Amino acid sequence: MTETTATPLAHEEELSAHFDATIARDQRVEPRDWMPEAYRRTLVRQIAQHAHSEIIGMQPEGDWITKAPSLRRKSILFAKVQDEAGHGLYLYSAAETLGADRAELTEMLIEGRQKYSSIFNYPTPTFADVGVIGWFVDGAAICNQVPLCRCSYGPYARAMIRVCKEESFHQRQGYELLMTMMRGTEAQRRMVQEAVDRWWWPSLMMFGPPDGDSPHSAKSMAWRIKRHSNDELRQRFVDMTVPQAEHLGVTLPDPELRWNEERGRHDFGTPDFEELKQVISGNGPCNAERVARRRSAHENGAWVREAAAAHAARHAGDRGKTTEVAA
Ligand SMILES: [Fe+2]
Ligand SMILES: [Fe+2]
Repeated sequence: MTETTATPLAHEEELSAHFDATIARDQRVEPRDWMPEAYRRTLVRQIAQHAHSEIIGMQPEGDWITKAPSLRRKSILFAKVQDEAGHGLYLYSAAETLGADRAELTEMLIEGRQKYSSIFNYPTPTFADVGVIGWFVDGAAICNQVPLCRCSYGPYARAMIRVCKEESFHQRQGYELLMTMMRGTEAQRRMVQEAVDRWWWPSLMMFGPPDGDSPHSAKSMAWRIKRHSNDELRQRFVDMTVPQAEHLGVTLPDPELRWNEERGRHDFGTPDFEELKQVISGNGPCNAERVARRRSAHENGAWVREAAAAHAARHAGDRGKTTEVAA
C-alpha cells in the first residue's frame, strides 16, 4: 500500500536513489528505467552528435569511391563508408530508446542546431587522405569509443561493441593503404607525409577542448557515460600513434613531441583550440558544403521515406485483416 501513502516527492527520491545505486554498482541503465531528466538530455545530445558524425563522416572519404585507384581499393573504401552509415543507424536507434525522434534529430543537424565531430570539416584533396583518415580519425574514434562500451546506458554501450570492431578494421585498412603508398614512388611518399601533416592537429582536436575547458565532462564522468577525460584520451592516442608513425616512416608535425622517460608517456604540443572553436561553430573549411550535401541527400530521399511509410501502413492494414479473419 506504499503507493497510496507515499508522496510523489518521496517516490521520486526512491527512484533517484535506485538510479544512483545502479550507477555506483557499475550496472547498466536500460530504456524503461527511471533516469534523471538531465541524464537523458545529456545522452540524447551525445548520441545524436555521435550519429551525425558517422553520417557526415561518410562524405570526406565518400568523394574518393568513384576515383579509387583500383577495384580492390574501391571495394574496401565502399565497405568502410557503408559501415559508417550502419554506425549512424545504430546510434539513431539508441537515441530513439530515450524518446528522441530521428526525423527531428536530422532536422536539427541540417539546421545547424546540433553539432557533429569537427574533424569531418576538413578536405580530402588526395587519396593519401583516405589512408590517413583511417589511421588517425578511426584510430582516435577507437580511443574515444572503446571506453563507451562500458557506458552506463545499456543500448549505447552495446551499440559501441560492434562499432568498435568495425572501427578497428577501418584503422587497419587506412594503415595498410599508407604502407603500400610508402613502398611506392617518391611522389606517393610525399603525398602520405603531406596528408599526415594536414590531419595530425585536427585529429588531436577530436578529443575536444582541454579538461579545464570542458563544461559537460565532470557530470558525464559522474554518470559513467564518460570514463576518461579529454586530455587522457588525447594522450592515449598520441602514445598509440607515435610508434606506428615510426614504423610507417613518416614524421608527425610537432617539434615538441618527445618521449618523457619519467612519465612513461609522450610529451606533445598544444593543438590550436581557437581553430577547434571556429570549426565547431561552423567556420571550418568544409562546414557549409557538408551540411548542404546532407540537406540535399535528405530532401532527395523524401520519396523513399514516404514509400516506406506507405508500405508499412499497408502491411499493418493487411496484418489487421488477417487477424480479423483468424478471429
Ligand atoms: Fe564509425
Ligand atoms: Fe570508422
